[in-house]
Amino acid sequence: MKVFFVGAGPGDPDLLTRKAERLLRECPVCIYAGSLISPAIVQLLRPEAEKHDSAKLSLPQVIDLILGARSRDLDVVRLHTGDPSIYSAIGEQIAELEPYGIDYEVVPGVSAFQAAAAALGWELTVPEVAQSIVLTRIPGRTPMPAAESLRRFAETGATLCLFLSAHAIEAHARTLIGYYGQDCPAAVVYHASWRDELIVRGTLADIAEKARGAGITKTALFLVRREGHGGRSRLYDPGFEHGYRKREA
Ligand SMILES: C[S@@+](CC[C@H](N)C(=O)[O-])C[C@H]1O[C@@H](n2cnc3c(N)ncnc32)[C@H](O)[C@@H]1O
Repeated sequence: MKVFFVGAGPGDPDLLTRKAERLLRECPVCIYAGSLISPAIVQLLRPEAEKHDSAKLSLPQVIDLILGARSRDLDVVRLHTGDPSIYSAIGEQIAELEPYGIDYEVVPGVSAFQAAAAALGWELTVPEVAQSIVLTRIPGRTPMPAAESLRRFAETGATLCLFLSAHAIEAHARTLIGYYGQDCPAAVVYHASWRDELIVRGTLADIAEKARGAGITKTALFLVRREGHGGRSRLYDPGFEHGYRKREA
């Protein structure tokens, strides 16, 4: 018996990894985050598979379901949206399973920030503009460590991808203007890769109003990337030689 912590990707079933799809199609028991996983993905489960929506469950109840599956020697797919390494609380689930000696495996998925960047057609790392991406959130019921304030990240000028923050874009856009300027490109992508995906583009000055106008309050990514086309990467520079390509004459 094994528990598979599977990344469901951002929503579009075509963005599942082949391994995730195979596990979903075969699993006898699936516990999924119903508030975030698209119905199109839940539909891949066999009709007779046990399906449990974790949105209604506490951590001890999730663990009880897994222990119940173990008593019947049934594998469990614990399905999380996006990639399981980001804001999915797999760490605390694994910590609960370890004393029982339950075997587990983590299967990565396409994260929402990648789907949002794809929807926008944005490269998040533009040479000489930003070479780092900060994946962060604003404090909610889970507080932020003191050193990880938005202001601190903003001081670096890195590209920002804010999860779990769609309800508070206004305050955060205001904070960011002090660092990136009011004309800095910003975007909000709701339900990236879903059929009802919504893309709102603007600047730090107007993105909050535009997102509010579009009615976006949850399941969205807030992205900020400094203005500029930047330089060119050395990778494709005709005058630059590397192990796979000679310098052009
Ligand atoms: C609990 S976190 C899970 C993140 C997930 N593990 C990932 O890698 O994308 C949920 C947040 O992810 C973002 N999110 C998840 N799916 C999304 C999607 N399809 N489009 C836009 N944002 C999404 C939203 O910010 C949402 O509030």
